[in-house]
Order: sequence, then structure tokens, then C-alpha cells
Amino acid sequence: MENVTEALTEHHRACDELFLAAEGAAAENHWPECKAKIAAYQAEMVRHFDFEEQILFPAFEQATGMTHGPTAVMREEHSQMLELIEQLIDAASRSQGEDYLAASETMLVLMQQHNLKEEGVLYPECDALLDSGDGAITEGLRALRAKV
Ligand SMILES: [Fe+2]
Repeated sequence: MENVTEALTEHHRACDELFLAAEGAAAENHWPECKAKIAAYQAEMVRHFDFEEQILFPAFEQATGMTHGPTAVMREEHSQMLELIEQLIDAASRSQGEDYLAASETMLVLMQQHNLKEEGVLYPECDALLDSGDGAITEGLRALRAKV
């Protein structure tokens, strides 16, 4: 199995770059660019969340027997972030700088806290606990890496 912490931390950074590019474009009222970057960000985040929720978290839950623990919190935060991304897309499509930057600020705080918990605790636990021969995880990590 590839290293979960390394691969997913790298993918978080790739997503962060798209998010920051969209925010920069919004700050300068470059709406077509902002819309393109935030759409690309949404697509990458959806791929990231799908891998975690459908492959990684179930493996963690099976290994630990904890289905109402950290992964439940992460899933809840994912849905909050998806909602905020919708708000960003909506503000960008209306060229509303103030709305965009307000949602962007909330998103940044949530995302940073979420990523810290995953990168600092959950991913290292996955690396320690999960079967290193798990093909689905390896395949999913490679697919995330390949596209960015
Ligand atoms: Fe996550």
C-alpha cells in the first residue's frame, strides 16, 4: 500500500492551490477565472471525499470497529465543506465579491482544521492500522495522484 499520509497530504495541497487561485481571482474581480478555478477545486474535492468516504474510512472503521468516531466527524465536515463550495460557486456566478470572500474565509478555517486532523491523526492511524496489501486503497491513492 502506498503511504496514505503522504499521498493525501499531497492531494490536500493540490486542492489548496486551486482554492487559493480562485480566491485570488475573486479578490481581483476576475470572475471567469474564479469560476474555472472553483469548479476545478470542487471536482478535486469531490474525488478526494469520495475516496475517503467510500474506500479509506470504511477500511479504518473495519480495522478499529469505530463507526461513530473520527470518521463520522470527518464525513460531517465534508458535507459542510461541499455546501460552502456550492456557496462559492453561486457567489462567483453572480460576481459577488463580498459574498464570495465571506464564504471563502469560512471555508478556509474549516478546511485547515479538517486537514490538520486528517494529516496529523487519522491518516497516520490509517498507515499504522491498515493492511499494507489493500489494493483498493493503493489504486485510489494512485488515481488521486495521477490526475493533479
Ligand atoms: Fe477529509
